[in-house]
This record gives sequence, C-alpha cells and structure tokens, in this order.
Amino acid sequence: MKSPLILIFLFFFILSNVKAQNTYRNGVVSSADELASNVGISILKKGGNAIDAAVGVAFALAVVFPQAGNIGGGGFMVLHLKDGTNTSIDFREKAPLAAYRDMFLNENGDVIPNLSLRGHLAAGVPGSVAGLLYALNKYGKLNREDVIEYAIELAEKGFILTEELANVLNDYNDELTVFESTRKIFGKEFYAGELFIQKDLAETLKRIRDFGSDGFYKGETARLIVNEMKKGNGIITYEDLKQYQPVEREVIKGNYRGYEILSMGPPSSGGISLIYLLNILENFNLSKSGHNTAETISIMTEAMRRVYADRSEFMGDMDFVNVPVNVLISKEYAIERMSDFDPMKASESEIISHGNINDFGSTNTTHFSVADGEGNVVSTTTTINGYFGNKVVVDGAGFFLNNEMDDFVSKPGVPNMFGLLGNEANAIEPGKRMLSSMTPTIVLKNGRPFLVTGSPGGGRIITAVMTNIVNIIDFKLSLSDAINSPRFHHQWFPDEIQAEKNSIAQDVRNKLVKKGYKIIDFRDYASIDAILINDDGSMTGYSDRRGYGKAIGF
Ligand code: DON
Repeated sequence: MKSPLILIFLFFFILSNVKAQNTYRNGVVSSADELASNVGISILKKGGNAIDAAVGVAFALAVVFPQAGNIGGGGFMVLHLKDGTNTSIDFREKAPLAAYRDMFLNENGDVIPNLSLRGHLAAGVPGSVAGLLYALNKYGKLNREDVIEYAIELAEKGFILTEELANVLNDYNDELTVFESTRKIFGKEFYAGELFIQKDLAETLKRIRDFGSDGFYKGETARLIVNEMKKGNGIITYEDLKQYQPVEREVIKGNYRGYEILSMGPPSSGGISLIYLLNILENFNLSKSGHNTAETISIMTEAMRRVYADRSEFMGDMDFVNVPVNVLISKEYAIERMSDFDPMKASESEIISHGNINDFGSTNTTHFSVADGEGNVVSTTTTINGYFGNKVVVDGAGFFLNNEMDDFVSKPGVPNMFGLLGNEANAIEPGKRMLSSMTPTIVLKNGRPFLVTGSPGGGRIITAVMTNIVNIIDFKLSLSDAINSPRFHHQWFPDEIQAEKNSIAQDVRNKLVKKGYKIIDFRDYASIDAILINDDGSMTGYSDRRGYGKAIGF
C-alpha cells in the first residue's frame, strides 16, 4: 500500500520543483506579495506593458503590503524599454519647505531620539503617486483606471490576510496604537484568514483614479494630509504638496565582466555604490577564490568598507550638492582605492577614510521587478523607510506617511536607523531629497535585458544587489540560489562583518578572525525580487526566501 503513496508523493515533489524553475514567455512579476504579483500579471494579460503592470503592482502593494507598499512614501524606477531606451524616474520624498538642518536636535545640539523616525515631523513630502503616474503617462499603454482598479477593489472589498501579514500587524501593535488615526484601522488583533477592508484608502485611491496627481496633491487628499500635520506639529503644507514633481533622470551606467549595469543615480547612493563595488571586484578572480571563502569575503569586505566610507562623505541630492559621480564610478578610482588592500590583514575603518577624489581631476521598502513579453523591463524600489513609516495614518485618507527624514544626516557622526553615517552632502535643506540606498537595477547582456533586480533593506540593499549579481555572473548560481544563498555585509562603520546565520563556515570564520575581522551574526532583512532572462528570451522569476513574496509568470 505504501509504495503507490510514495510514488504519488515523489511525482508531486518533482512537479513542484520543476514548477519552481519554470520559464515564461509573456511576462513575469516578482513582488513582496502574491496578490500584488497577480495584479501585475492580470494587467499584462489584458494588454498592458511592463510599465502598466509595475504601476498597478505599486498601487496594489499600498493596499496589501501596508508595512512598506505605499502612496505616502517615495521611490525609484529604472526602465529598459524594448526600443533600447534606458531611463529612470526619481520620486523620492523631499524635505518640506519649512525643514531645516538642525530640526532633529535639542538645545544642546544632541539628536532627539525618535523624532526623525516616528510621528509627523519624520515625514518627507510623498513622491510615489506623482512618480507612478508620470511613468504610466509617459511609458504605459493603459489608462489610469485600468491599472488602479485592482488596488481599489482590494481596499474596498478587502482581501484575506495571510498569516505573515497578520503576524507583522500584531508584532507592531504597540507602535500602531500610538496615533489615534492609526489605531482606528490597525489597533486590533489580526487573524490569518480574516477579510481586511480599508474604506478610507479605497476613497483616496478613487480620487487618484479620477483626478490623477491632483487627486493626491490637491483637493480632499491634500486637505486631509495638511489636517493631519496640524494635529501632530508636522510641517508639510499645501505648498509642499503642490510643488512636488518627480524627475526623470539618466540611469547610472557601468559594466561588469562584459555585462552592462543600469541603476539609480542620486539622490540614491545605490547605483554609484553598486557600480563602484563591481568595479573593484572586477580586478579580482572571484570564481577562482570561490564563493564565501575567506579570500573572497575579505576582498568583498574591503571593497564594501571603502565604498561606504565614500557614500558617507560624498553622496547626497545632486540638485543641491555636487557629487563626483564620474570619479566614483571610474575603473581607475576603484583600482586606486584598493591600493592599500592587504589580503592577509583586515583594514581598519578608523584609518580608511573616504578617498581623495581631487586626485582624479574634475569631476520599510519594497522592491518589485516586472518583465513583459515585448522586451520592456522595469525595476522599482519604493519605501516609507521603516515598517509602517512614521506610524501615522493620515486620518480619513487611510494611508501611512513615511519617516524618510531619518535618511538625512540629523547630525554628522550620529548614525541613522540603519547605522549609516553621513556628512554635509546629506544635511537637511528645504526641498532637498534625502540620500537613499535603494538600488533598482537592470543588467543587460549584449544590449538585451538579462537580470532585473533590487531589494529593500536600508544600507544592506547595495551589498545584497551586488551579491546577487556576482553570484550569477561569477559563481554561476541559478537565480534562486543566487538570491537564497547566505549573505554578509560591511558598511565601514560599525567596523564589523554582519553575517547571516550559516553564511560563513567555521573554518572560514577562523581564518577571517585571524586576519583581524570582527564577525557578528545578523538577520538579513534585504529581500530580493528578481527576474532572469535567458538568451532565448524565456524568463524566470524568484522572490527571496527572506520575505513572503512570490514571482509569477505566464
Ligand atoms: O532609501 C533608503 O535607503 C531607505 N529609506 C530604505 C529603507 C528600507 O529599505 C527599509 N527596509 N527594510
């Protein structure tokens, strides 16, 4: 009796594994939530392109992934279009006009704990709605109604809570009950399987459907945001909302072992840092030194140390400060920065400062990847910064505001919530965009899309994306292995390798400690959603084991 059962089990086991590696021809969407990925697929199936799908997914995530999906935050989108156009859209939040450099310091000049993280002052002027609609108008095929209707339905009719989301909501209950407006919607115990309806959010989404950007930045939604600000001493005004504009920017370009890298430039540090890291790594034979060996880890760590030191010193919003992009992404600078690298001995962050660029002349986030069958690919990372942003729901409008002001430097030398340091370049100024680590990235092979990738994870985003690329190009891992294999991270300060459990074997650890590295265990919260496109045009997607998302194709 047992053997047929075993055979049936084996059949389904093999089938499920085969399915995991399925490839698709017409489109793939990989996002942090299955319902949102399905929205993207529905939009592709009804004739939308990757941009339509990406915009629909983003609005859906604002409903079904409230911890990070948003209309109250901002983000970046990197696009490669079927006609070969590469471009990016910056819809990062901005400091309100009334913001000022020392707004998070007390009279003694010390940082007031949590002020840039929780409550109304922590919010930057949201950019998501303007950015997504800009992308849709310029590069999409469908109407606004056709892409937003799914999000409206999910908010109005509700959706069934997964165990994961119910757990997140319950885990954050303390924080979600501080503000009255948030408590009204989220101040209860949630159960997996219950229907979760968000009426106010549905109404806000309908105003966006009916009036476009004006449905958010003007009229009733603007009134609700400004009212909310008044209740909590916030500083976002009608003028801030009216003035907000997304910016289409040139992508930051690099190349790595013959592949072309397209990523996000300032105000994200992601693209520059990623290309700078890859430029350093290109000078080492990683496939020979091996995956996660002591030799490879020390090379990568020293690269990360130097890149994050420069991130801290030089990077900020280029509409306000001069970032030496050309130097930072040059192959020569990458060589020069590693000239003091000693493979036998850890460098010290106290000694390794930022590079001397003058020697070179002038000059809770969520990611989703979408590819359609026509050759368009879109890589989008969007955020309200912390889980549930500043924890404030705009009363009557049903969405969370961001706490992105914490991505500015409140005070030089004082780390932000991700432990990242910064300097003058990222000081608060009215209307300035705060520095980001978001790294939505597209890798091209022979001019055609090869990998669409990106991740949440604060300062860890850059190294997670770099590891994803290196795991595929140097170590020839499959997409899922390249994403799932254990990661480590170094960000200059604190001077330690933050290693995921089991990422570093004991003998490798011993060798690294002998060289002088400090290694600490760290739960990695970077969670990649990526698509790999084969030479024959077939594609496969994968959603990181560290999240609970899903890649779907057809
Ligand atoms: O823009 C940034 O770099 C951060 N606000 C990203 C925050 C983030 O990834 C949170 N997710 N874990």
